[in-house]
Parts: sequence; C-alpha cells; structure tokens
Amino acid sequence: MDLELKDKIAVITGGSKGIGEAVARGLAGEGVHLALCARNREEVENTARKISEEFGVKALGFACDVSKLEDIEKFVEAIKNAYPEGVDVLINNAGTGSAEKIIDAPDSRWQYYWDLHVMAAVRLSRLLEILAADEAQFLERGRKEVEETMEETATEGNQENTETDKRSTTGSP
Ligand SMILES: NC(=O)c1ccc[n+]([C@@H]2O[C@H](COP(=O)([O-])OP(=O)(O)OC[C@H]3O[C@@H](n4cnc5c(N)ncnc54)[C@H](OP(=O)(O)O)[C@@H]3O)[C@@H](O)[C@H]2O)c1
Repeated sequence: MDLELKDKIAVITGGSKGIGEAVARGLAGEGVHLALCARNREEVENTARKISEEFGVKALGFACDVSKLEDIEKFVEAIKNAYPEGVDVLINNAGTGSAEKIIDAPDSRWQYYWDLHVMAAVRLSRLLEILAADEAQFLERGRKEVEETMEETATEGNQENTETDKRSTTGSP
C-alpha cells in the first residue's frame, strides 16, 4: 500500500520493541525515516540499525527515558542534528501498565506515570514544534490534498452521470 508517506520523518518513543517497533517497521516500509528512543541503548540502536538496513531508510536509535525532561532535551537535540528540516510525525508510544491500586500507590509512583504518559507527550510536542516547524508548507500540503480529492470526486461523478445517460437513452436498466 502506498500511503504517500515517502521521505516523511517520524519520531517514535518506545520504538525498540513491541508495538513501537511494529509501527516503526510499518512506516519504514512506506519509506519514512525514523527517530526511535527507549531506555535500553543497545536495544534501540540495534532496532534502528536493522530497520535501516532492511528498508533503506535513515533511522536514529537514541537512549532516552521520556519521563525525564533532560533526556527528552538530549533526544530532541539529536533529532534536530539528524533531521534539521524538522519532523512530520510524533508517535507517543512509550509507556507501561500499572499493577497498583490508587489506594496502594505512593505519590511518587503516580508522578512517574504522569511524567511518562502525559508530560512526555507535552514536552516532545512543544520541543519538536511539529506544526510550527513549517506551518505554511503544512497548510499548502493540506490545501492541495483537498483540491485533488475534490477533482477526483468530480471526475468519478461525471463518469457515473455519463453511464446513467447511456442507460436511459438505450432503455437498459
Ligand atoms: N500491549 C498491550 O496490550 C497494550 C495495551 C494497552 C496499552 N499499551 C501501551 O502501548 C504501549 C506499547 O506497548 P507494548 O506492549 O509494545 O510495550 P513493550 O513491548 O513493553 O514496549 C515498550 C517500549 O517502550 C519503551 N519504554 C518504556 N518505558 C520507557 C521510558 N520511560 N522511556 C522511553 N522508552 C520507554 C521500552 O523500551 P525500554 O524498556 O528500553 O525503555 C519499549 O521500547 C505502551 O505505552 C503500553 O502501555 C499496550
């Protein structure tokens, strides 16, 4: 399937394994270049290298704990060095389930979940400035897509009308 994503750039947190790696592979198959992060450096670097070799895309693998602001800042710096043109997609996938009940978990645990599942997405979005990176280009791309879809719909409608006209002149159903 061609989703017209070739040469776009996607950041995926928790991209070293599981769902994050599967999404990374799916996007790489579409020709998307990647920046992956996870806490285990060896794993994330290996995953990035394998995907790059397999799909012929650029793939940065970077050690980063997204629950920590200082790690996120370093990751964003590495992304900007690898992709100075800015990124198109951010997938906030890194996370974990919880075994505790509200009543049992201390504040420190809830603070960790908050930093991991909420603040990581806020901080990455803010630092990467996805839309602001090139807002004019983003809007122009959207306008073109709407115009193309309208043209296609109009062409299909005209073809259907021609078929209906033919049937009514020949009397066939
Ligand atoms: N699988 C499910 O059924 C399911 C259901 C509901 C929601 N989810 C959510 O979907 C996401 C992916 O699930 P999954 O099953 O693919 O999990 P997984 O196999 O455990 O993979 C999690 C990924 O996130 C990374 N990660 C975890 N904590 C991180 C942190 N603090 N900073 C950076 N990276 C971190 C892990 O690498 P490191 O350990 O090296 O950091 C790994 O790359 C998670 O957010 C999970 O909570 C999963």
